[in-house]
Amino acid sequence: MKENKLFRKNLPPRTPEQDDLKKRIEQGMRDVSAQEYDTFVLERGRDRFAIAVKSLVTSVLNPRKHYEALEIGAGTGISTRRLNEIEYIHVTALDIREDYLEFGIRNGRIRSEQAVVGSFSELPFPDESFDVYVGVAILNQRADVDRFYEEISRVLKDGGLVFIPWTKVKDGSIEREMENIKKFPFEITSRGDWYLIGKRKPRMSSRS
Ligand SMILES: C[S@@+](CC[C@H](N)C(=O)[O-])C[C@H]1O[C@@H](n2cnc3c(N)ncnc32)[C@H](O)[C@@H]1O
Repeated sequence: MKENKLFRKNLPPRTPEQDDLKKRIEQGMRDVSAQEYDTFVLERGRDRFAIAVKSLVTSVLNPRKHYEALEIGAGTGISTRRLNEIEYIHVTALDIREDYLEFGIRNGRIRSEQAVVGSFSELPFPDESFDVYVGVAILNQRADVDRFYEEISRVLKDGGLVFIPWTKVKDGSIEREMENIKKFPFEITSRGDWYLIGKRKPRMSSRS
């Protein structure tokens, strides 16, 4: 069985309205309200996916350490809520849409201190701020993939981990992402049919 049957099982076919909404989400979701987005993706199994992402993260991290994690494209906090269940990480939840983050706060999934409004093409954090990066269902939201990875590699510490899950297994996204990330200082440490895990390579020392 494909791994993602675990979180996408028994879904009814999409209605024409849901097909239209899916298209609007894939086209940048500017005219999609937080409520509309949240209802749709929860009906389509996003919380099961978020739980699978949490398991993926905990399968790699060391529970005796503390991790500063950056979640990019946190949206309405479906995955933030699950990541918050891991007691040894502190999550910063970034999204360009303040209304989505506010929806997540109102629904008790994101704490106000975690929410940061900002763009992944210009992350509002100093270099080497985070131990972990996670971004759930955001691969098709990026206009400039190179800029995205420049920013992730900048804000991650040496040895920082990147978790790149994707909600589909057969659309070639994971293969494309392998090619995308290759140009940047990351080593792929694990690959499944719905995810990649990588590690930021050490920066070159300036004292030599
Ligand atoms: C498909 S949603 C995924 C949301 C959440 N991770 C989930 O699984 O429900 C993509 C998210 O990326 C956000 N996004 C799109 N462009 C962005 C950008 N330039 N910077 C930060 N977030 C962005 C959207 O606002 C949206 O919340």
